[in-house]
Order: sequence, then C-alpha cells, then structure tokens
Amino acid sequence: MKVIICKDYEEMSDKAAEIVISEVRKNPSAVLGLATGTTPLGLYSKMIEDHKKNGTSYKDVRAVNLDEYAGLDCSSDQSYVYFMRKNLFNGLDIKLENTYIENGKAEDECARYNALLDKLRQDVQILGIGSNGHIAFNEPGTSFDSVTHTVALTESTIKDNSRLFKSIDEVPKRAFTMGLKNIMNAKKNVILVSGKNKAKAVYGLVKGEITEQVPASILQKHNDCVLICDEAAAELIK
Ligand code: PGA
Repeated sequence: MKVIICKDYEEMSDKAAEIVISEVRKNPSAVLGLATGTTPLGLYSKMIEDHKKNGTSYKDVRAVNLDEYAGLDCSSDQSYVYFMRKNLFNGLDIKLENTYIENGKAEDECARYNALLDKLRQDVQILGIGSNGHIAFNEPGTSFDSVTHTVALTESTIKDNSRLFKSIDEVPKRAFTMGLKNIMNAKKNVILVSGKNKAKAVYGLVKGEITEQVPASILQKHNDCVLICDEAAAELIK
C-alpha cells in the first residue's frame, strides 16, 4: 500500500482530487466508485471547482456508490442518493442516469447491484474508514469474500453516524453495502482518512494483522491501493 501523509485535511483532499481528475481526463468514460461520509466532502468540492474552472467533463463518466441505508426513500435528505446529488453530482455535468447506488426501498437489491458491478468495474474507488476499521458498511467480522449484502449496523457505527441525524433513534439500523470482494475488485482504491479518532483504524489498515475483525486490513493485499491521510490520522504509523 502506498501511504501519503498530508499536513491537513485540505492537502489530503487536494491529493485525492489530483488522482480522480487525472483519471477522468485520461479516461472520459471512467467508472468512479464513490463514498459518502464527511471525509470525501473536500475532494468533491475540489472536483466541482475543477469542473467549473478547467472544464473537466463527467458527461460520459459512470459512478457507482458503496452503500445506502435500507428503508430510506431516495427523496429522504438522509439518503445517500440525496447526499451524492447535493455534494457532488449537481455540481458536475455527470448524467444522473449514469450514477448508481443501491435502492434503499428495494426488496432484493443485492443481486441487482452485484450484477451491475460485474459490468461496471471501478477504475478508481474512493473509500473512507470507520473508527472500528469498517469500509463501506462492512463491519468487523464481515467475510473477505462478501459481495453486496444487507447489514445490521453495529452500535459503534450507529453512534458515529448519529451526528448527522436529529437523534440517535433516527439512524437506520440496516444498510445495503458493496462487499469486500467488490471493493477489492476495483482497479485502484484510494482511501482517505482524517483525524486523530481514526488513528487506531489506520494502524489496523496499514500495519495490523490481515483479519476480518478489521475489514479494511484486506486492502494490504490490493495491488494498487493508496492511503491519503492527515498527520493526526497517521499518528500510530509514523
Ligand atoms: P466519515 O465516515 O467519512 O464520515 O468519517 C467514514 C466511514 O465511516 O466509513
């Protein structure tokens, strides 16, 4: 795994934007694997800024997202579809019909999404990490062979995500998520991490034992994975 330690969140977002933008310029119909959460917000605003200033076009780009809460309609402002449109897609010329995410209201979403991912292999997949070492909603204990599946969120993830809801009771308890095998299938993985509260997870990601108890540790086996993190998140790996 290549590790890039940046002085702060801003520099982390710049480095990630350089990778994504250069991929889209080189391959205008690239498949981008995208993530929600607070960490990629800086990257997304830099992609929008570059699109407006330099004209990088996303008109033929396809986007596949990692995960979605189960039970939420796409019109809900807590859904990840809503998040992606608000924070990225509406600022680019990407066609919404080329953006894919699990349907929170569907019954059997996993089979459909796996079939889709078979056709849309991510050229670059953006990832965040949870303080418990999860990637997407693959919580500790998830099989490294997993593909898109339904998960019951752990207490720790519900607590982490509750800051984005009015109260912890409103956080959905289940989600659809790409599995670890779908993530490992990406041609390139770029994992972004910021903040001291993620330092232990970063240690597990880079230097820990490869174990299903730390889902992100499987990325040590990926042949093109870049970790871009700030100083605070890198505290235990320096
Ligand atoms: P965050 O979430 O970017 O909001 O910290 C990352 C994650 O839980 O995967």
